[in-house]
Amino acid sequence: MNATIEKEKTMTQIKVPLLDLKKQYRRIRREVQREIRKVLESQELILGPEVKRFEEETASFCEVSHAVGVASGTDALLLSLMALDVGNGDRVVTSPYTFFATGGCISRLGAIPVFVDIEPRTCNLDPDRLEQVMKKLSGKNKRPTVLMPVHLYGQMADMAALMPIARRYGMRVVEDAAQAIGARENSFRHGRGREAIAGAVGDLGCFSFYPTKNLGGVGEGGMVITDDAALAEKIRILRNHGMNPRYHHRMIGINSRLDSLEAAVLRIKLRNLRRWTEERRENAARYRALFKEEDLWPPQVSLPEERKGAYHIYNQFVIRAENRDALRDHLSRKGIGTEIYYPVPLHLQECYQTLGYREGSFPEAEKAARETLALPIFPELTERQQRCVVKAIKEFFTTESTEPTEKKI
Ligand SMILES: Cc1ncc(COP(=O)(O)O)c(C=O)c1O
Repeated sequence: MNATIEKEKTMTQIKVPLLDLKKQYRRIRREVQREIRKVLESQELILGPEVKRFEEETASFCEVSHAVGVASGTDALLLSLMALDVGNGDRVVTSPYTFFATGGCISRLGAIPVFVDIEPRTCNLDPDRLEQVMKKLSGKNKRPTVLMPVHLYGQMADMAALMPIARRYGMRVVEDAAQAIGARENSFRHGRGREAIAGAVGDLGCFSFYPTKNLGGVGEGGMVITDDAALAEKIRILRNHGMNPRYHHRMIGINSRLDSLEAAVLRIKLRNLRRWTEERRENAARYRALFKEEDLWPPQVSLPEERKGAYHIYNQFVIRAENRDALRDHLSRKGIGTEIYYPVPLHLQECYQTLGYREGSFPEAEKAARETLALPIFPELTERQQRCVVKAIKEFFTTESTEPTEKKI
């Protein structure tokens, strides 16, 4: 008996970080060091052959014709909007529940973000609400020209429903696939009858290689993918100060070149990406089984839902709980890392007060901001660590459910 209690105790006491990048690095260390050395020896540090190869390999991975390496996911979005000539006073529709960069890029061009609430099951832009907003705006001169859906946490937004709405209202589509490289949707065929792949459905798709992403670099990096040769060429020019040929500037661009060291490391990681994604998915499946086993799901928490036909890549495994903040504090005391993506929706950010939205404008995004909690899901997470996470959550709800009774007494 004592031994069991002792075992239970140690189970809930090992530390579990939200993400352990050192473990991933150890799997590929030798290869990474060799390739970095090669780049250093070559002294071709910006763009160059490594970037070109990485672009070709990413295009092939996503089954598109063109990929353009840029300096960050933020720049991938910014350059995509620039390539579509988005500017002063233009309107771009997107989700209010995303990382700030999605909205920030729109505003930096003098354009105006038009937010549409999310569907609560996936936290992605809700196609029904989009249709309602577009109906309201049609006929007015405020019609948005671009739709920017976000594939939050690694699951594609409902592109089968969103694309026809975008086309009906004449909107170009830029996918914010920063968190979703490799995500797919096999129930939705598009283009040449192929399976929908994150980033490859709209006119342009954007990835981030920020180190916490499934394909994370050793610094900043991003990529734009497209099947449109003219757009790809424009982005290539825009990422290098609008220069073509050398020192002749056809348009006003920015400095957003991907560097060769980054590309060399990302090429190694890209070769491992399918396996690492599968490991994340296995971890997600194990969480589901463990939460069920402990009778936590339902009712105490809800787990991320996969839409039918969706291949979720689990950049984040985000649960929802009404008493999220107390749960997070409890897990933190147990040495378990979690994060809130995101505590404040974009329409309630201080810098967006001028847009005229207020509390209550997007109830689903606001509710998500109060309830979401990301748990550790990285590929190298062990079963023991996962059991610890779930045990600690169980402990929280067990003590919590006894607290009100004690208070009543
Ligand atoms: C949804 C979303 N969009 C855009 C970005 C911006 O990417 P980056 O950090 O590479 O600029 C991120 C990355 O954090 C993101 O999660």
